[in-house]
Amino acid sequence: MNKKISFAGPWITQKEIDYVLEAVKNGWYQTFDMHIKKLERAVAEYLGVQYTLATHCCTVALHLATASIGLKPGDEVICTDFSWVATAHAILYTGAVPVFVDIDPDSWCIEPRAIEKAITDKTKAIMLVHCFGHPAQMDEIMNIAKKYNLRVIEDAAPSLGSEFKGQKTGTFGDIGCFSFQGAKIAVSGEGGIFVTNNKELYQKAVLLSNMGRTDSKAVFWSDMLGYQYTIANLTAALALAQVERIEELVAKKREIFSWYYARLKDVPGIKIIKEKKDCKSNYCYPSILLEDGISVQRDEILKHFREHNIHCRPAFPRMSSFPMYTRRFPNPVAEKVEKRGISLASAADITEKDVDFVCRTFCALLK
Ligand SMILES: Cc1ncc(COP(=O)(O)O)c(C=O)c1O
Repeated sequence: MNKKISFAGPWITQKEIDYVLEAVKNGWYQTFDMHIKKLERAVAEYLGVQYTLATHCCTVALHLATASIGLKPGDEVICTDFSWVATAHAILYTGAVPVFVDIDPDSWCIEPRAIEKAITDKTKAIMLVHCFGHPAQMDEIMNIAKKYNLRVIEDAAPSLGSEFKGQKTGTFGDIGCFSFQGAKIAVSGEGGIFVTNNKELYQKAVLLSNMGRTDSKAVFWSDMLGYQYTIANLTAALALAQVERIEELVAKKREIFSWYYARLKDVPGIKIIKEKKDCKSNYCYPSILLEDGISVQRDEILKHFREHNIHCRPAFPRMSSFPMYTRRFPNPVAEKVEKRGISLASAADITEKDVDFVCRTFCALLK
């Protein structure tokens, strides 16, 4: 059997090990948050934003986002139908309702025209995802938000290092949220960060992330219901080392994509999801769509990969089909991607030879 080809996995160097060791040895007492502060500064500088708050994971950063903009039961948020469910749950945590709309077939990000059609007098915000690292169409989305006076939350979980018209994803809307979960481009096992240029939203998120603690009337005094959403210093040390290497990590992912692209671009019936005009993708998860001409079932392909020790992933089911949600629009593009989309193995340790093996294994089945 060939070696296991993993779907995702990090690129760890001595720098990461040194930072974690430093945190274990010295990240206590007066310096208990030294790496957290450094991580927050490093991300703020990299993205060019004013305020950053590191969190236990991106899901809770997204909840801080939906809570700090003041969503409440009865409000509606227009949300992509195609994402990991954290995107929608972060809306529902506040009692607001996600209204799921379709995606752009070329990027799998929210379709701006679908947003405008879904607006009602209850709509308060737009929740978009830079899907698999591909930037959403931020010009059009921000124009719609301005026209209808809506808040914008960018679920930028997988997209650290991606850009739209030269500006980093996660910095266009009111709030952006990134993930350092183990399968992302920069990892710390679990971890996330909330970013904004709005001081008021930042201050609210800080309070909510720390149990609403204000110390206003006594030490340990809390003035509001809050959550324990902070990150551990040890975790932040690992995330910091990765963020300091982000350009290298993005270059690696882009190289992996280029290996796939060279081998699959001329295969009939395969659509490769690639960066659109004006976009730079970090290619966190290189992905393909099986067009109608391909008769082999997607899940048969995934099984075939597993039998060859290759781990690829099916696309997300539409969140509007989950039992806690309702569907307002049919969203046919998301439906097609749900059934016929595949994200290919792109762990940081993958070699060009491995990619060649993945593509040959795949193409053999199509014949
Ligand atoms: C689009 C998207 N949003 C949110 C999340 C949640 O991130 P975390 O696991 O850090 O909570 C993920 C993680 O996979 C994701 O892919």
